[in-house]
Amino acid sequence: MNFTQIALQLFTHGYSFGFGAEQYADHRGIDSKGRSMSGAHLWAKAEAARLEDALHGRSVNMVSAEIELARTMATRVRGYVRPTGLLDKGVSVLEFGPGTVMAFREKTFPVVRELVGRQGRCILIDNSDLFLNQLRDAYGDRIARLTLITENIFSGRRFAGWNEPAFMLMFGRTFGNLDAKASDEAPYKDAARTLRDLAKAAPAGWFAVSIGSNLDGERAKAYYEAHPEFQVNVFFRMAAEMEIEGRFNPEAFRYEADIRGSAEFLQVVHTAVLQEDLSFKLAYEPFDLKAGTRFHLKNSFCFSRGFMEESAQLAGLRPVDFLSDGHGSDLHVFAKPPSS
Ligand SMILES: C[S@@+](CC[C@H](N)C(=O)[O-])C[C@H]1O[C@@H](n2cnc3c(N)ncnc32)[C@H](O)[C@@H]1O
Repeated sequence: MNFTQIALQLFTHGYSFGFGAEQYADHRGIDSKGRSMSGAHLWAKAEAARLEDALHGRSVNMVSAEIELARTMATRVRGYVRPTGLLDKGVSVLEFGPGTVMAFREKTFPVVRELVGRQGRCILIDNSDLFLNQLRDAYGDRIARLTLITENIFSGRRFAGWNEPAFMLMFGRTFGNLDAKASDEAPYKDAARTLRDLAKAAPAGWFAVSIGSNLDGERAKAYYEAHPEFQVNVFFRMAAEMEIEGRFNPEAFRYEADIRGSAEFLQVVHTAVLQEDLSFKLAYEPFDLKAGTRFHLKNSFCFSRGFMEESAQLAGLRPVDFLSDGHGSDLHVFAKPPSS
């Protein structure tokens, strides 16, 4: 689906899964004070601030916790692979949603250095051409077989070769953005389907997935509501890029983090609440949206260790390692047998 189709789905059905990927796009949208609302710009700015804090020991946040977990995992990855005899030739590393050069340098590159050897590739898949181009500029000369693919990471597509086992990675809790309706039921089926689809990217290998495990809803709500612009930037992109007839005010969408959950999961339903009536036509489709209408833009799930391991088993994956900072940042490593 392109951005217009995603927007049409949102205004028609109140939920569109596609926005998770589109929020990172670089675009010309600006707010009424002339400030850039480009998703790539907002993300890079917030990440740089958190990384700066982390590198100077000012705070322990998701960024610093994940860097530690990734570094620890990099010291163990050869141990996971050794019994298969693949280390001699090298193993391809495949990452879903690598994001910025900073994130790649701190989390992914240490794993690449350990595994790719003489024959492995480094395959990076992201919706954002901007991020991929920056990674090519920074690492094109240092990684011999770097393959960049602009694609939807949740498509269930094969990205590695048919005979290319791979070490798959998903950092930054991107897995928590999986497609699921707002619900108080733990989404085992959605999580298992998503893990199975992602793992189709390679015929066999391993899959390291980072996820939050702190299930405190109040804390999550405060965290996300401190950065509303990152969630609602998509409306400013609509105003800048789409042919909209009539009155469309991107500032009429106010962000709220709706919370669902139980002892196994926390769902942050990223929601835009319309503050005024809007009548407009988008792609010849008329919309009369009423103040108070709620739009479900994206999910951020956190999952307990037990939930992740059970979902992985349903998806045909086998837990091989578990790393945690003990404060809500987890990294699960699963094995994908050749038959699943
Ligand atoms: C939460 S960020 C994580 C970035 C990086 N891995 C990190 O740890 O900081 C999500 C990344 O995945 C990409 N992304 C999100 N959803 C996507 C999708 N459906 N298809 C392709 N890329 C997607 C975004 O462009 C972004 O680079």
